[in-house]
Amino acid sequence: MNLHSPPFPISASLQKKAHRLIPGGSHTYAKGDDQYPILAPGFIARGSGCHVWDVDGNEYIEYGMGNRAVALGHAYPAVVKAVRDELERGCNFTRPSPIEVECAEAFLGLIDTAEMVKFCKNGSDATSAAVKLARAYTGRDYVAYCGDHPFFSVDDWFIGPTPMGAGVPEPINALSVTFRYNDPDSVKALLKQYPGQIACFILEPARSDDPRDGFLHELRRLAHEDGALFILDEMITGFRWHKSGAQKLYDIVPDLSTFGKSLGNGFSVSALAGRREYMRLGGLDHTDKPRVFLLSTTHGGETHALAAAIATIKIYSDEPVIERLHAAGDRLRTGLEQVATARGLSDHFPISGRSCCMAFGTLDPEGKPSQAYRSLFLQEIIRRGVIAPSLTVSYAHSDEDIDKTIEAIDGALDVYARALEGGAEKYLVGRPSQIVQRRYNQPDAASSA
Ligand SMILES: Cc1ncc(COP(=O)(O)O)c(C=O)c1O
Repeated sequence: MNLHSPPFPISASLQKKAHRLIPGGSHTYAKGDDQYPILAPGFIARGSGCHVWDVDGNEYIEYGMGNRAVALGHAYPAVVKAVRDELERGCNFTRPSPIEVECAEAFLGLIDTAEMVKFCKNGSDATSAAVKLARAYTGRDYVAYCGDHPFFSVDDWFIGPTPMGAGVPEPINALSVTFRYNDPDSVKALLKQYPGQIACFILEPARSDDPRDGFLHELRRLAHEDGALFILDEMITGFRWHKSGAQKLYDIVPDLSTFGKSLGNGFSVSALAGRREYMRLGGLDHTDKPRVFLLSTTHGGETHALAAAIATIKIYSDEPVIERLHAAGDRLRTGLEQVATARGLSDHFPISGRSCCMAFGTLDPEGKPSQAYRSLFLQEIIRRGVIAPSLTVSYAHSDEDIDKTIEAIDGALDVYARALEGGAEKYLVGRPSQIVQRRYNQPDAASSA
């Protein structure tokens, strides 16, 4: 390869324009140039199933699936048809569309712990609305979120205390406190420090580990004992762990739960769902408590996004989507563990998470997480036709796709093993990638080609 000319020429020129016009060059930090090596496609032009094509015409098998939003596969025909049919009828009217009721009924048929649902456009709106509702219901200011879970919202209550909290006033940050997953003592310590002051405990039902020793049930009990609400953020676990959410799998009833991502197979629809006792505060009937301004947005009832959700829910109800996600993930995990072990790399390339939603680590010679080795790994799999910021499978990943991926990753691990001896910089072209949540940019973070 001639490294003096850009290997992705169309991407490279579009990247320059993008950074001039869009802060960060994209609308989602996790998709940004600083997250990828230099030798990576800058833009994806189209996708079908688990295959995508970049603007330079290269084809890849992919595992990011739109930040885990596309569980059925890109441009899934039944979902696209439902959206297209709906588009012909208009997308936003002066009064609600009947599809809002139809979608609520379909959703609550699947997520049967909830009695009411309100739809919105992204996950942050849903989690922030859950927190707001909890604060309004309890009359308390503090919010406790799980500090082991990386992301809940773009809004102040969550992003304020992170390294990317610029622009959030300090008094707001002081109202957010954290507890540890699978650690009831950390919850008890918070309740001791802030008795009767915490509005809610919010967490993902699971991330890389399952709940241990009834942790979710114990957390719910402790929260309720103190008068706080128990909220599950099912943005990732919903429509992956179980068609009725991880709450069904773990047999736990949250007061409120939030969904998004796979709910519309990539279309912009998310949901706040929960018990009537809380949700009614956003309604028109109650007179005993103040009205809560609950998720009222111009685009909340956008009809084709709801059509996408209805079609997705139907596919999950009729077809073995969850089983296939787990089977595909199992095949991938087994194959990758075999090739990593054969190359003596199992300590440097660990795979974590439930089979339907796995992640990988890239550890340096000292066993420490390394962006340089992550970038090298991404560079080498991209060269071999795979994009995998995580190992998120979809319903569209066939056994053949998985086997090709294992072969590609085996090739990448060959380079990785040599880099552990000779240094990642010897094999990595350009600067390493960066973590998203950092206070300052590196001078060359946006460089792309
Ligand atoms: C667990 C979780 N909750 C909430 C969100 C926020 O969703 P959105 O990006 O749609 O606002 C995310 C996004 O990655 C997430 O992973």
